[in-house]
Amino acid sequence: MDEFKTFINRKNTNSMKWDQVKRVFQTDDDDVLPLWVADMDFPAPKEVNDALIERARHGIYGYTFIDDSIKQNVANWLQKRHGWDVDINWLTFSPSVITSLYNAIVTFTEPGDNVLIQTPVYTPFFSVIKDSGRQLVENPLRYENGTYRMDFADLEEKFRQGTKAMVLCSPHNPVGRVWKKAELEKLAELALAYDVLILSDEIHADLVFEPNKHIPIASLSEEMAKQTITFMSPTKTFNLAGLHISYIVTPDRKKKMEMEKLLALQGFRMLNTMGIIALNAAYEHGDRWLNRLLAVIEENKTYVINRLPMETNGKVDVIDSEGTYLLWLDFRKLNMSDKALHRFLVEEAKVGLNAGSSYGKEGERFMRINLACHKETLQEAIDRIVQAVNKLP
Ligand SMILES: Cc1ncc(COP(=O)(O)O)c(C=O)c1O
Repeated sequence: MDEFKTFINRKNTNSMKWDQVKRVFQTDDDDVLPLWVADMDFPAPKEVNDALIERARHGIYGYTFIDDSIKQNVANWLQKRHGWDVDINWLTFSPSVITSLYNAIVTFTEPGDNVLIQTPVYTPFFSVIKDSGRQLVENPLRYENGTYRMDFADLEEKFRQGTKAMVLCSPHNPVGRVWKKAELEKLAELALAYDVLILSDEIHADLVFEPNKHIPIASLSEEMAKQTITFMSPTKTFNLAGLHISYIVTPDRKKKMEMEKLLALQGFRMLNTMGIIALNAAYEHGDRWLNRLLAVIEENKTYVINRLPMETNGKVDVIDSEGTYLLWLDFRKLNMSDKALHRFLVEEAKVGLNAGSSYGKEGERFMRINLACHKETLQEAIDRIVQAVNKLP
């Protein structure tokens, strides 16, 4: 079986993506095709599923610890895929990146402190800052000549005004940028100059198209390693989000201990047995599967780029991506309000995409489409969008 070509019905599995369409898109229509939340319609690598099945056969799920060989597997992965030398003593495990991010914000900033994000950006960044009583500061990305760039002048000004921490999204969801070394170096220079702690969410690190290369910002220098806390996980890469496993890389020993104290208080000294098994198997055996996945995603991306703008007479633009399985679409030429666009896509096109406005006001009248699906699903979605757009007066 080719796991990237065989369609597997995910309905009736309590899948957020497939079984919550009516609630999320506020529709009674059974026929809205879901290409929204960031998980994939592909099964995890066979080696991961085999390891989980073997563990389930054992049948006892008592408290499970993460030994040094598992930690070494993580370090080997980071060295092999990203050229980053990570000491296993820098690793802390946690159920999810958002759990870790919340813990880092609470540990290293005070209520009322400024925490900066680069909008449009992953929706929970907003709530994790605001709901922990911190002040959200936005440094919008600049959209110019079909691509997004960091606005360093604005960033420096906001650092100067007193930013305590910045949540970096690298690679960037939803715009698909894989930050270049020069961009990260400039950011690092400013973070060090103004003593801003970088909380680097690198969950999409493995999902990068050649010749782009993911560079962990903490790997730039020893100084930067100490100024950064990095959040990573095999869950996006290998489609394991439901198993809730992730890890934090903290080279600064004091910071690591402080964060572990808070995680332990919340009962996260121990983690989900099956998540640990899946992480270990994925990092040990997942290379070949991941390389094939990247080819499938890139092919899907090219498919959308080749069809959508041309078949809609340029009314829908696609922002080319360098990584992630998410693609950012520009619907502004339809001249609809943001609200009308959402209803149009659900009711006329019958596709369920993520509203660009959920990533910040810069995302209004943009949409995010999930490319990690079967070609038939994607083809159907593009057919529907094209037909609906071309029916507009
Ligand atoms: C940038 C980013 N961070 C974090 C997450 C979620 O990670 P977790 O499920 O480990 O909290 C996602 C999921 O799409 C994401 O895109």
